[in-house]
Amino acid sequence: MSEQPEVPLKGRSLVTLDDISTHQIEELLHKAAYIDSHRREVAHTCDGRVLATLFYEPSTRTRLSFETAMLRLGGSVIGFAGAQLSSVSKGESIADTLKTVSNYVDIVAMRHPKEGAALVASRAASVPVINAGDGGHMHPTQTLADLATLMSRFGRITNLTVGLCGDLTFGRTVHSLIETLCRFGNVNFVLISPDELKTPQYVIDRIKATPSCSYVEVKDLAAVIGDLDVLYMTRVQQERFFNEDDYLRLRDTYILDEEKLSHAKPDMAVLHPLPRINEIAVEVDNDPRAAYFEQVKNGMLMRMALESSLLGDELPGYVPLQPK
Ligand code: CP
Repeated sequence: MSEQPEVPLKGRSLVTLDDISTHQIEELLHKAAYIDSHRREVAHTCDGRVLATLFYEPSTRTRLSFETAMLRLGGSVIGFAGAQLSSVSKGESIADTLKTVSNYVDIVAMRHPKEGAALVASRAASVPVINAGDGGHMHPTQTLADLATLMSRFGRITNLTVGLCGDLTFGRTVHSLIETLCRFGNVNFVLISPDELKTPQYVIDRIKATPSCSYVEVKDLAAVIGDLDVLYMTRVQQERFFNEDDYLRLRDTYILDEEKLSHAKPDMAVLHPLPRINEIAVEVDNDPRAAYFEQVKNGMLMRMALESSLLGDELPGYVPLQPK
């Protein structure tokens, strides 16, 4: 896919990472690394700013890290976690909610169970809107956290064999990550799922359209684990199943434990967007290959980089990345 001309991030919304250039993604990674090593220096970057977190779906990491990110940059936070206590419960539309909240805040992070809700919100709002997950579609800031974790583990996000395992149908983090890695190129994808939870065709088409990337679809994790640089585990998304019996039948298909991990490369990285149910045994947490709590920290740092960038608030002492 050819890139659109680059538009500065200030004042923009982020619905999908396709909204921004690959250089801007690299710049956000660079900024997040700077923030991590200059926490005191950046603590007043967003003084006086207000973030709204509008979460129509449950969340721990995404909401709390968006909020912590703004607080650590000197700003404040309002919002709701669950729409039942807002006027959404009276039938207020997304558009009216965003037109209202735009009067109160400088930037919005929104999670919604419907695909496309973030796009609707971004069109109605007069301030930047960040997609914090829209149904089974996209989760761009999780992808930023994933990329930061690959950078910290490998020093690169290309020339990797990346296994994605579990619910590849409903796992929006998987869709965002594959699409974004395709933009950087040179990735071999190993898509590990049961037949019922395969990767959607539009995501497969994206890989096929990228000559430097390849993919295979397999069912057996044990047969491929030794080939992988990255194993991205996912939870079977109960909330998106229409049939409880199907969920119960599929939820335990893949469980990563130390025995399975003993067949993996010594420097393979295990990622998971979390929350996990039982797809990674707790014993794996102590394995140096477990990178999922690093992902959590990187999520906050990337959201700090993103919030300050969309607001146009400059980080003191930060020197931008030069284009290649
Ligand atoms: N990874 C992620 O989106 O986690 P939460 O659902 O807890 O926000």
